[in-house]
Amino acid sequence: MLRERAIAGFQARWAVAPTHLAVAPGRVNLIGEHTDYQDGYVFPAAIDRYLVAAIGLAPERSELVSESNNEPSIFNTSTPEASDLPNWGKYPAGIAWALRHHTGADLPNLRAFIVADLPLGAGLSSSAAIEMAFATAWNEIAGLGLPKGVLTRLGQLAENEFVGMKCGIMDQTASLFGVAGHALRIDTTDAAHPVPVPIPDDLALLVCNTCVKHELAGSAYNERRSEVEEAARILGVSTLRHATLDQLATEQGEMSPVVARRARHIISENLRVLAFDHALASRDDAEIGRLMAESHESLRADYEVSCHELDTMAEEARALPGCIGARMTGAGFGGSVMALVHQAQATDFADELAKRYTERTGKVGQIHLCHAADGASTVQL
Ligand code: GLA
Repeated sequence: MLRERAIAGFQARWAVAPTHLAVAPGRVNLIGEHTDYQDGYVFPAAIDRYLVAAIGLAPERSELVSESNNEPSIFNTSTPEASDLPNWGKYPAGIAWALRHHTGADLPNLRAFIVADLPLGAGLSSSAAIEMAFATAWNEIAGLGLPKGVLTRLGQLAENEFVGMKCGIMDQTASLFGVAGHALRIDTTDAAHPVPVPIPDDLALLVCNTCVKHELAGSAYNERRSEVEEAARILGVSTLRHATLDQLATEQGEMSPVVARRARHIISENLRVLAFDHALASRDDAEIGRLMAESHESLRADYEVSCHELDTMAEEARALPGCIGARMTGAGFGGSVMALVHQAQATDFADELAKRYTERTGKVGQIHLCHAADGASTVQL
């Protein structure tokens, strides 16, 4: 068990017992990709793959240790410096920086021993999980009393300003507000009020990790973001949430073909999220599958964030018995495909998909049967 492993790791390292345990889930996104930094709609679910940190107060400086990385993250909560830290350690340090920036209060330094069964770099938001684990931890231990909607915004701020990744608000919201058995319909202009939508019992969530990680993901992500900001400027809207496909068709001559395609993805993806919500509520499985396939195609052709392995995984998933829909999930450039599959066929689906993926790509993927889970929290031990 993760919790026992985290507690034992803490005790072995510092010869005292931890006082708190932070648990934060990863997420998949059912539909609504790359829309969250343009005020759009998203439809993620927290999943039962977790990051767990056993935590206690530290005498002088924060010392965070991860089971999966040799380099600890050592900093003082009053002056964390991103350039001094290993990449993974920037996320929790960024939370300390953002909390201090927001509250003006001194934050206690912490020791933590971190374990996870959430694969890293798989497009399942291990970064938001570590952010929300430490946001809830400091909120609890320092008695800050900040509401969830503030913690998610501070997570985004930490990632945007401290880590340098210009992400939206979806991942933090999914990781903190997740509800077991439900996806969250989120209007990102009101991300503090996500609406839980039940995932029907007969549908299984399959996360199909290509095990491909593209190193350029961060810079390509920020580049997409500036392209769509340019499109919004040319269209005369604050964000593409307020633009229509007709408007784009009329004005696309004013922008480069690449910027026009980026904008078309965002505007059409927002429409697909709303249609998906209806299709799920009315259990129109054919429509669910169609929308997921269209979303993937738009991400591949217009937004250009897919890759051969993601395309192959999605294509093979769709061809298998029991699959209702499949598409890439998360930022892209590698990572995972998510598939909605009839529960009764989920195990055969996973075995067969792993086989076919290897046959076609020569790579070994990982197929995880996941369940929608509750959001992050920190408890006293
Ligand atoms: C990453 C970001 C999110 C979102 C997705 C793409 O996961 O952290 O904010 O933009 O990519 O939908």
